[in-house]
Amino acid sequence: MQILIIGGGNMGKTYAKSFLNAHIVTSDQLSILEKSEEKAKELNKLNLGQVFGTPGHYVKEADLIVLAVKPQDVALLFKSIKPYIDNQQVFLSIMAGVDISTISAHLGAVKVIRAMPNLPAQIGKGMTVFTSSADVTRIELVTVQNLLNATGKTLYVEKEKSIDAATAVSGSGPAYVFYFMKVMIDTAIEMGFSRSEAELLSIQTFAGAVDLYNKFNFSCEEWIGKVASRGGTTEAALSTFDKTLVSSDINEGMYAAFHRAIELSKLN
Ligand SMILES: NC(=O)c1ccc[n+]([C@@H]2O[C@H](COP(=O)([O-])OP(=O)(O)OC[C@H]3O[C@@H](n4cnc5c(N)ncnc54)[C@H](OP(=O)(O)O)[C@@H]3O)[C@@H](O)[C@H]2O)c1
Repeated sequence: MQILIIGGGNMGKTYAKSFLNAHIVTSDQLSILEKSEEKAKELNKLNLGQVFGTPGHYVKEADLIVLAVKPQDVALLFKSIKPYIDNQQVFLSIMAGVDISTISAHLGAVKVIRAMPNLPAQIGKGMTVFTSSADVTRIELVTVQNLLNATGKTLYVEKEKSIDAATAVSGSGPAYVFYFMKVMIDTAIEMGFSRSEAELLSIQTFAGAVDLYNKFNFSCEEWIGKVASRGGTTEAALSTFDKTLVSSDINEGMYAAFHRAIELSKLN
């Protein structure tokens, strides 16, 4: 299998490294098309396969083409690669807000997989939600899922609308976690800890809570019940969160992300 990654930025590089580290492909089977000369030079040093600066006949030889450019660059990209596309190639797009019908309409591609990864993919702890057009075969889908698994966990969804929802949950989600972490760190500093102490307390608390959740079969509510005793400190914090509507704010924020994802799909 020959894989071509288009866009050698954060995500393109992550995929190239993950595919190679997982020994799914060798560097002979991998190439990257990256328009920035500076980034192309950097990619060459990393030995991630052959690096190209402009499209050419090699695009035709790829069995799988990963589309990893920013959505605002996609119109130019479609135009530049269209002469080299045949409809038996499989496309894996990770571009936010670019839907399958847009990719099919511009490239004449029928085998399109659309995925929404997130930032922890960079360290193999990503969450990727993906879906596909009807022409992608079962074998092609399993092959792509194996590739995506090299960056963390994956979930297949039937409906493309779920990709917009996933954008609002796991796609943007790491930023929500960092937001909460930042408030905890800033407040710990206000309470007298140094920055490094505040970071240690907050980050270890997040990591420990997530590990506990993964290790035992309790819901978030049950875990909250285990920490919060009646009339205690945790209950004081949680009832303030309730009064200040923290949970409905988070819910509203996530819906804002969801609606923005739908809006972006219509723009592209
Ligand atoms: N980062 C994330 O956590 C994340 C999560 C989910 C989805 N995504 C999606 O992943 C995609 C890539 O994001 P990223 O963060 O990796 O972006 P990035 O770092 O900007 O990488 C994109 C790269 O593509 C290059 N490029 C643009 N047009 C090109 C063309 N026509 N041919 C070849 N290369 C081209 C850009 O070059 P220039 O720098 O010269 O423009 C840039 O190096 C986006 O669509 C984003 O929505 C990202």
